[in-house]
Amino acid sequence: MMPSETSAPFSASSSGDRHPARLRRSVLCVPADNARALAKIASLACDAVIYDLEDAVSVDNKVAARQTLADHLQRQRRSDIEVIIRINDLKTPFGEKDLAFALTLSPDAIFLPKVESPQDIQAVVDFLSENDAPDSVRLWAMIETPRGVLNAAAIAETGRTSGGRLDCFVPGLNDLRKDTGVAALPGRTYLIAWLMQILLAARSCGLDIIDAVFNDFRDDAGFAAECAEGRDMGFDGKMLIHPAQIGPANGAFGVADTALADARSIIDAFALPENADKAVINLNGLMVERLHLDQALRLAAKADAINEKGKNP
Ligand code: COA
Ligand code: MG
Repeated sequence: MMPSETSAPFSASSSGDRHPARLRRSVLCVPADNARALAKIASLACDAVIYDLEDAVSVDNKVAARQTLADHLQRQRRSDIEVIIRINDLKTPFGEKDLAFALTLSPDAIFLPKVESPQDIQAVVDFLSENDAPDSVRLWAMIETPRGVLNAAAIAETGRTSGGRLDCFVPGLNDLRKDTGVAALPGRTYLIAWLMQILLAARSCGLDIIDAVFNDFRDDAGFAAECAEGRDMGFDGKMLIHPAQIGPANGAFGVADTALADARSIIDAFALPENADKAVINLNGLMVERLHLDQALRLAAKADAINEKGKNP
């Protein structure tokens, strides 16, 4: 249906398709079979944890890792962080059991590795519906193979379908480098085009997107540079492999004081009675439109969420 020309064109709450204030600055991957690392989560300031049954767990530990994870979540599940379980590829001998097992733990999301086509998502959506999984159980997808990158737009579209649970993409550069031969260079020179392609696909369907891991967890300067790069490219946060990466990621993907001050001045300007009906205003020599107000409101909501969480380093 076409919108009415007489309906109110300006809504202070029109902040676009994307969730305005969900924090996913720091998304830490923890091997599900590593009891020491699991115990550490209690004291960490990450926004989300990926409990990994896939690449971080050896074949010999795959089955035992499920029980270790179940015991851990039963004892010390945190309600203030997103709980995401990465299962093995459904094409492996472990995938299907992982999926059924993950559902029993009521995660916020199930994370599918090596997603290559819309059918990969649909098969899991069907499984979840058949097993009466609540809508709150979302899906995340790793885009980490050449076919996955080429099909990213079609995969993202599954998030728009009725009952579609897809919420977030994460590019997997270790696998992508392995499959393509692209070198691991600072600045990710030859990978940027694919990262942006995946990001565009995600945004075209209102999905979140988290930047790939940085392997060298003792290289603080390299990590800071890659976080800044990922933030400027438009990512919501970074997938992490080590607790030392949490603080820097929270900082890089947080809200800078100057950006918040700019946002507040835009919000204040549009709140003035003389600007109530204006589509565009002059803010100290800067052209500011209603779309900038949407961005400013989203940023302010994110700053509020960070304050609320009390984890802004
Ligand atoms: N989550 C939670 N805690 C972690 C952690 C993680 N991802 N990585 C390390 N730690 C803990 C360690 O257990 C250690 O705790 P302790 O002091 O109680 O012993 C502390 O942080 C310091 O760890 P450190 O000695 O610097 O590293 P390590 O040798 O124990 O581990 C890795 C290094 C790379 C093996 C480990 O960080 C890891 O497994 N990371 C995740 C890998 C992964 O998930 N890969 C798949 C996705 S790409
Ligand atoms: Mg992988």
